[in-house]
Amino acid sequence: MYLASEKRYDSMQYNRCGKSGLKLPAISLGLWHNFGEVDALSNMKEMLFTSFDNGITHFDIANNYGPPPGSAETNFGAIMKSDLKPYRDELIISSKAGYLMWPGPYGEWGSRKYITASADQSLKRTGLEYFDIFYSHRFDPDTPLEETALALDSLVRAGKALYVGVSSYNKEQTAEIYKIFKELKTPFVIHQPCYSIFERWIETYGLKGYAADDAEIGIIAFCPLQQGMLTDKYLNGIPSDSRAASKTGFLQTNQVTPERVAQIEKLNAIAQNRGQTLAQMALAWVLRDGKVTSALIGASKTSQIIENLGAIKNITFTKDELDAIDGIAN
Ligand SMILES: NC(=O)c1ccc[n+]([C@@H]2O[C@H](COP(=O)([O-])OP(=O)(O)OC[C@H]3O[C@@H](n4cnc5c(N)ncnc54)[C@H](OP(=O)(O)O)[C@@H]3O)[C@@H](O)[C@H]2O)c1
Repeated sequence: MYLASEKRYDSMQYNRCGKSGLKLPAISLGLWHNFGEVDALSNMKEMLFTSFDNGITHFDIANNYGPPPGSAETNFGAIMKSDLKPYRDELIISSKAGYLMWPGPYGEWGSRKYITASADQSLKRTGLEYFDIFYSHRFDPDTPLEETALALDSLVRAGKALYVGVSSYNKEQTAEIYKIFKELKTPFVIHQPCYSIFERWIETYGLKGYAADDAEIGIIAFCPLQQGMLTDKYLNGIPSDSRAASKTGFLQTNQVTPERVAQIEKLNAIAQNRGQTLAQMALAWVLRDGKVTSALIGASKTSQIIENLGAIKNITFTKDELDAIDGIAN
């Protein structure tokens, strides 16, 4: 039986999620990859326990994580039951509904029917009584936004979620649902967008400023390492144990282009000058201005989590460093 480290709160930084009462660790762990049926339970346990032992109190899942879809929730539920249950009140666990989960017209997107059924399935798979955060995983252009918002609100009223969030909604869609939630007094506390040195759409389209400064909700940045490309792992080819080499990984070999590798080499040199690894610098960059509540990493090995945690030791950049990073990434 796992016993959590007594030092687990000694070094992590906790950031307030917008203006809510909720705080999240600066680094959170996502279960998109490496928690499916195809993966080893012993490694999943080791990664979750190492995370929690180091103050990572937030684990992010979704209905469709696996493969196959649903298996990450099932595996997480098993580990919760065997080891993490005594710590339930120290954990923030999120899930989502939006992508395809079952056949027919009710198995994806943002209808009340789908969100309600999917949340119930997710609770069953994880064995949890409630999720701390439940997300609309993607904007549904065909369902009235009010219906999606009300479905999420109902989960809160039913005690199935404490807070709600949206993922990958653009600025306008976020502003629209924010208004509905405000009227309903739904605890809408967070946006989950993709954000990294290489993927800056939330800056380009004004979402980052809107969420952090106008709506005053938290931002949790997913794929902050661009699925592993913002680390030193692809500098000398594609390692056989990497996501790009994996049959079930979302990162494709053809995304690791010579141009990308040239950028990674230059970024790696800046990181070295800062006394950080590239992974640490990439996470620090996401957190640099205090607008992002948490960097939501993935990992395939415990050692990666330990390395990545080192990022929070230095999230300050000089203007020259930021300019150099922009010059390489753009
Ligand atoms: N809302 C959404 O639509 C959405 C979409 C995608 C992801 N997410 C969330 O974001 C989470 C993180 O996504 P992600 O896994 O793509 O994040 P990421 O942090 O950008 O990439 C994680 C991957 O990079 C590699 N890695 C991590 N640390 C490393 C290190 N120090 N050195 C070398 N390689 C390292 C590992 O891959 P390998 O070792 O296998 O190469 C790891 O699995 C997901 O689990 C999920 O919770 C949400």
